[in-house]
Amino acid sequence: MAANDTIGRTITVTILLCVVCSVIVSTAAVLLRPMQVANKELDRQSNILAAAKIDYQGRDVQKLFAEQIVTKYVNLKTGKYVEKPEGYQDSKRAAKNPDLSSALTRQQDIASIKRTANVMPVYLVSRDKQLDKVILPVHGYGLWSTLYGFLALENDLNTVVGFGFYSHGETPGLGGEVDNPKWKSVWPGKKIYAEGSMEPKISLVKGMIDPSAAGSEFKIDSLSGATITSNGVTNLVQFWMGENGFATFLTNLKAGEN
Ligand SMILES: Cc1cc2nc3c(=O)[nH]c(=O)nc-3n(C[C@H](O)[C@H](O)[C@H](O)COP(=O)(O)O)c2cc1C
Repeated sequence: MAANDTIGRTITVTILLCVVCSVIVSTAAVLLRPMQVANKELDRQSNILAAAKIDYQGRDVQKLFAEQIVTKYVNLKTGKYVEKPEGYQDSKRAAKNPDLSSALTRQQDIASIKRTANVMPVYLVSRDKQLDKVILPVHGYGLWSTLYGFLALENDLNTVVGFGFYSHGETPGLGGEVDNPKWKSVWPGKKIYAEGSMEPKISLVKGMIDPSAAGSEFKIDSLSGATITSNGVTNLVQFWMGENGFATFLTNLKAGEN
């Protein structure tokens, strides 16, 4: 056996290699963290612009977002604008903080999210100083995961401008078809509420939808082979457009009382 070929030396080299590698990996993780945070924010902004059908391809997303979108915070119970609460980072984290969120009863929790943040961000687009579109964050459980997305409404606060998810863990080709542009293109023009009501009527339904049939404006094709995800999407839209979501805010906004 050569002098260098001892068990002690082998173990020392192995330990040294592990230490060097872990230092490299942790340094990379720390150094890349700000870049990851910035990219996540850019992705969120792109998704808000996409829901509002504002073309951001090839544009400076951050600049476009700052020019086009005003972010406000809404107390879901009162439906009024409030200041961003102290310690509030985002609605996802706020929903986990008992000081910033409320538990939902089983009956209220149709989207299977357990708690909601008391205050949620809303995104407003104006044209000629008049409200043009409202983009609302929505989330709820599908089959495997919680789906997070944005639903944009026209200034009648009822007609859908666009809808899309930016995060989910549903199966590609089945529930993952929520990302299919063809399916997403069915949403614009659909209505959330029937005339004079603030109870959400929109839902995903199985089978062909006859666009000339009465009530088709409240119907979206469900995803084939993905009934559970489709039911989840119906539930999350109905939750967030309902009385425990943004319905009070939208009622106030319609009356100009925010
Ligand atoms: C590997 C695997 C992945 C699946 N992924 C999904 C999914 O993401 N969403 C969903 O609703 N159903 C998914 N399903 C199917 C469900 O188990 C269930 O059969 C389906 O929701 C029934 O929908 P259908 O009535 O449209 O066929 C998956 C099934 C398998 C075996």
